[in-house]
Amino acid sequence: MILTIRKYPDPVLQQPGEPVVEFDEALRSFVADMFETMYAAQGIGLAAPQVGVSRRVTVMDLSSGKDPAQKMVLVNPEIVERAGKLYEEEGCLSFPEIREKVSRAARVKVRAQDEHGKWFEAEGEELLSRCMQHEIDHLDGVLFIFRISGLKREMALRRIRKLQQAGEW
Ligand code: NI
Repeated sequence: MILTIRKYPDPVLQQPGEPVVEFDEALRSFVADMFETMYAAQGIGLAAPQVGVSRRVTVMDLSSGKDPAQKMVLVNPEIVERAGKLYEEEGCLSFPEIREKVSRAARVKVRAQDEHGKWFEAEGEELLSRCMQHEIDHLDGVLFIFRISGLKREMALRRIRKLQQAGEW
């Protein structure tokens, strides 16, 4: 089932997600819906708050559905190591058309549970590292627009207001 993606400034996007405690069929069916929603929107990452569910669940697939081996589900994830620096352009399904350069760690190690509750560690470099940091930020209620300079943020927010007034947001 394709879920509705919430756009900024929907308040759920800035609310920290609750940890997942039950790893049941309902969770696995929600994860499947998140993948379906992300693929339909041609995204590479989607976090539960973006579909209005304030829970610590995120899905990622850098291949956008082309390579099943790249599907990743992170439940209750935590970044346990960071190294290096990257400064690259990011987008977000909750901010259509907005792209901004964000400073991120070049490599991260994440500890998370899968959709069955099993703990694992995963490492990401380059795009995967940035995607992991962007999605885990969503679970903390942090949006990429708040990781850029105040001036750039004001410009982006002004553009969003114009799109809203034109009925295009
Ligand atoms: Ni995003």
